[in-house]
Amino acid sequence: TEAILLVGGQGTRLRPLTSHTPKPLLPVAGVPFLTHQLARAAAAGVTRIVVATSYLAELFEAEFGNGSGLGLKLEYVTEETALGTGGAIRNAAERLHSAPGDPVLVFNGDILSGVDLAALRDGHQASGADVTLHLKRVPDPRAFGLVPTDTEGRVQAFLEKPRTPEEITTDQINAGCYVFTRSVIDRIPPGRVVSVERETFPELLTSDAHVRGVVDDAYWLDLGTPAAFVQGSADLVRGRVASPALPGPTGDALVLPRAQVHPSAVLSGGTVVATGAVVGEGAVVEGSVVMADAHIAARAGVYASVVGRQARIHEHTRLDNVVVGDGAHVAEGNELPPGLRIACGAHVPAYAVRTSAAP
Ligand code: GDD
Ligand code: MG
Repeated sequence: TEAILLVGGQGTRLRPLTSHTPKPLLPVAGVPFLTHQLARAAAAGVTRIVVATSYLAELFEAEFGNGSGLGLKLEYVTEETALGTGGAIRNAAERLHSAPGDPVLVFNGDILSGVDLAALRDGHQASGADVTLHLKRVPDPRAFGLVPTDTEGRVQAFLEKPRTPEEITTDQINAGCYVFTRSVIDRIPPGRVVSVERETFPELLTSDAHVRGVVDDAYWLDLGTPAAFVQGSADLVRGRVASPALPGPTGDALVLPRAQVHPSAVLSGGTVVATGAVVGEGAVVEGSVVMADAHIAARAGVYASVVGRQARIHEHTRLDNVVVGDGAHVAEGNELPPGLRIACGAHVPAYAVRTSAAP
């Protein structure tokens, strides 16, 4: 089976982490995020993937090469200017070997999912559908594509990111993984920007095409926001979602080779401490991602946060739901509030930010 992987987005919600690294290449449980998705595709019988790149395109091939390390054949296509999700799928399809009636898997590049890909493909084939969409039920669907289905699983509508409460008619969302019959991709207009969510799916539905939705209960997370990014990494470390790219659950924290963690430091909640990183005496790091060569000084507290490469968090500083860009310094005695992002290379002076009033 062949697949198309969409990785051309700019990852704006994860800035500044994505200013030098595309979202799919950020390290999650110790390896570039895409490794998990690629390994899962390979395990499901996908043999060849066309990777549709745009933003920071050259970094993907530099990381994964021809894919042989993962048992896959990878090919890269680059859009000079981003073509949107539908345009990217159409453009990448030029490189497929599949025949018109063959199934082609299509993935968003930021989804951590336990869905059974082989079953999704086989169900698509058996149903004779034009497109099959993996759907997920979520408590708050507003940030996603809404996809109501009828009792037979036929998709009735596709509404990307509804703007008004009246538009929210379902809790089923597009999970960012599709099976297309090849000939359906070939009908997307070539050479221009197309949104698969806002144009292709709604048009297919008005044209009476057979669009199926498959809802399941498998683990699913879009890693597009800082909170989801740390959660996905922690869930992989704790084995809440399996990845063929990992040896198995590593317990409550994953400390990579050549990291230095002081014996009195406390790591928990699925924390990752990457190569070359240092965690000092009495520091607490919970549910966080500490990237390569970062320093967490003695008695610092890092909770549900991302500390970028070579960033330094000094003594008695506390981060909660914070993103610290590569090379940034947060001097001692700061207490950074949830949602804060520190730009790459920025310096926060000592005792500059206190969120809770002193007693
Ligand atoms: N090649 C290419 N070109 N890829 C693109 C482009 C482009 O112009 N634009 C976006 N992508 C890629 C992104 O890199 C990402 O992997 C994927 O397409 C989806 O883009 P996101 O920016 O992550 O979209 P989203 O999360 O807001 O919404 C999408 O995913 C949701 C599920 O997580 C939509 O498909 C929603 O309908 C869906 O519910
Ligand atoms: Mg996304």
